This record gives sequence, C-alpha cells and structure tokens, in this order.
Amino acid sequence: MSKKIQIFDTTLRDGEQVPGCQLKTEEKVIIARELEALGVDVIEAGFPISSPGDFKSVVALTKSVKEPVVCALTRAKKEDIDVAADALRYAKRGRIHTGIGSSDVHIKNKFYSTREQVLEQGVWAVAYAKEKGHEVEFYAEDAGRADLKFLAQLIEGVIAAGADVVNIPDTTGYCLPDLFGKRIKYLTENVRNIDKAIISVHCHNDLGMATANTIAGLCNGAQQAEVTINGIGERAGNTSLEEVAMIINTHQDLNFHTNIKAEKIYALSKLVSGMMRMPVQPNKAIVGSNAFAHSSGIHQDGFLKHSENYEIISPDKVGVPSSSIVLTARSGRAALKHRIELLGYHFEGEDLNHLYENFLSMADEKKMIGDEDLMMLVGLMPVFVKG
Ligand code: KIV
Ligand code: ZN
Repeated sequence: MSKKIQIFDTTLRDGEQVPGCQLKTEEKVIIARELEALGVDVIEAGFPISSPGDFKSVVALTKSVKEPVVCALTRAKKEDIDVAADALRYAKRGRIHTGIGSSDVHIKNKFYSTREQVLEQGVWAVAYAKEKGHEVEFYAEDAGRADLKFLAQLIEGVIAAGADVVNIPDTTGYCLPDLFGKRIKYLTENVRNIDKAIISVHCHNDLGMATANTIAGLCNGAQQAEVTINGIGERAGNTSLEEVAMIINTHQDLNFHTNIKAEKIYALSKLVSGMMRMPVQPNKAIVGSNAFAHSSGIHQDGFLKHSENYEIISPDKVGVPSSSIVLTARSGRAALKHRIELLGYHFEGEDLNHLYENFLSMADEKKMIGDEDLMMLVGLMPVFVKG
C-alpha cells in the first residue's frame, strides 16, 4: 500500500519571515483558505510570541480553516508556549511546534550551553507544551549538522515526554541527499520509541538541495514534509510544496501519495507571489513562467510532434493554462509554422522558407518575437495563404 505523506505548509511562518514578505491577517486568512482547498494537512500559521500581529493571525486562522491542523511556532520557553497555546485556543486541531538547537555549533555559539542542558530543556518544553492539550511537534534545530548519537538521544527523550511529531530540520541547508537520508534512517534504527511519533523533514535550500534532501528523508522513513509555496523561506528558501507534490505524483514507483490537489498549484503560486511581493524565478520548476515554455528549434520540433518528448508533466495537471512555444532566433521552422497557424495563416515549402528567413533577421534584432511581429512578417510576404 502506498504511504501517505503529510504535507506541512510553512509559507505563512518560515516563508513570511522573508524580508518584504510580511502579510496582514486578512491576507494570511486568504492564503490559508487556499492552502486548505489545495489539501495540505498542516498549516504553520505563525510565531505568536513574536508580535501582536502574528498572535492575531494565528487566532484568525484557527477560526478560518476546518480541516488542516493549525500550528504555532515557539522556542523551548515557557512564555512562548503559553502564548502559542492561547493563540490556538479556538483550533479544532492545534499543534505547538517547539524546539531547540541540536548541533554543537548552535549549542555552543547560540545557547552558550551544553548538550545535557539542551536535552533537559527540550524534554521539559515538550512535556510542558503537552499539558496544554494540543498536539506537540518538536524541532531539533540544525539537526543536519548535529552529532547523530546526541540527536538520537534528544529525539528519544522528547518522544518519551510526549512529542507526537519529531521534526529533523536541515536548518542551514548543509546536507547532501545521501547524508540526510542516512540521518533519518539512523534515527529509525536507533531511537527506541521512534514508532510512537511521526518523523518530519524541514529542509533549507542553501546548496540547492532542499527538495532532494526532503525526498531522501521520505525514502528513509520520514512521513511528513515541511514545505512552502514557491519555495520561499529564510535565506535561499525552503523545500517547495509544488516540487515535492509533483515528484510524488510523477514517480509512482516511490509508492507515496499526498492529499494535494495538484491542479490548484499554479493559481496559489500566483496568489502567494503577488501578495508577498516575491516574484517567482522564470526557470522555477513547476510554476516558473518558463516551466512549460519551449524555445530551441530542436525542442520545439520534438514537442510539437509529441508533447511527452519534452514534457514529463502536462501543464493542465498543475493548473498552468497551456505550454508555450517561444519564438527567438533559436527557434525552427516547425515552431514558426505552429505559431503562425494559431494566428490563422498557413505556410508551406518555399513560402515557409521565405517567411522563416525574414523571421530570423527580425529575431536577430529583437530578443523575442510576439504575435504583432508575426503579423508584420506575414504582411511583408508577397503571397500568403489564410489557413
Ligand atoms: O529551519 C528551521 O530549523 C526552522 C525551525 C524553527 C523548524 O525553521
Ligand atoms: Zn526553517
């Protein structure tokens, strides 16, 4: 039977931390409703102690969505946990996401502490959060660089204290997929009570490995992926929801499934990009403007013969209106003929050759050739045939 992967969306927390991406409560509510319609399992709504605005947003989200678990971030501190529990008071299913640094780098240089004290504080925080009556997820910050034996000890301790989910973040985006996958496997084999909790993975993209690491984590025992729309998040960002969802959808051999309604992905990507004033890079997988655009002659010819020659996902599967054939000086006759036919004209043989020569001269001057340019080229032809 295929394994259900829980999708934990942190667009409204890790994504919203990005400078310039801050949202008003009403905007967060709009995105949260769309995330619910998309089918995510958990929405991380914010970090309630960080500001009154974030507190208000978490409360508003608990009242605005029905199905997903609403999650609130805290440090391993009493005041954070008290405020998060208060913000979640109306949640049908609330989750307190508490945690502490687990690598020696963080323990020594951020907490000026010791492994023993961090273990004690992490276990205490989970036990305290658990008393509030919500689900509890524990994050071992910077787990990608933590000593594995210590990480296993910490995870065993917090599960014994009641953690329902244990989040193993590659906070600094340091790991290689193989290394990260082995970390997760090690935990499944060396944490005695690991079957009492769900393992989650939360990867950052500092080396461009976030999605690969997330998939490696899932293949090695994790059951929850922490993601954001368009991959936004601290520094180089987080694992992107659309990439994880479509990898799982495309590679049926992984034997995973999610609740994501893929056809809603593109519209939500646009909404998040617009509201957060964060453009999507054109070559971004799945949702970038070039993700389904074909521009070189060889590719265009192959695509026009059979779309699967150059597309592993059909654009309508993710809500993209259509593939596109972009005309540049690298385009071939097949692409030109196709675009001209879309405008209602048909050229063959010598006529097409002539049109193509004029097209290349124009394309060498201009970077891209649009429909208005094509109409001008058609108008310059001595004879043209209406298709
Ligand atoms: O990257 C990280 O470690 C985090 C935690 C707060 C989960 O965002
Ligand atoms: Zn993060």
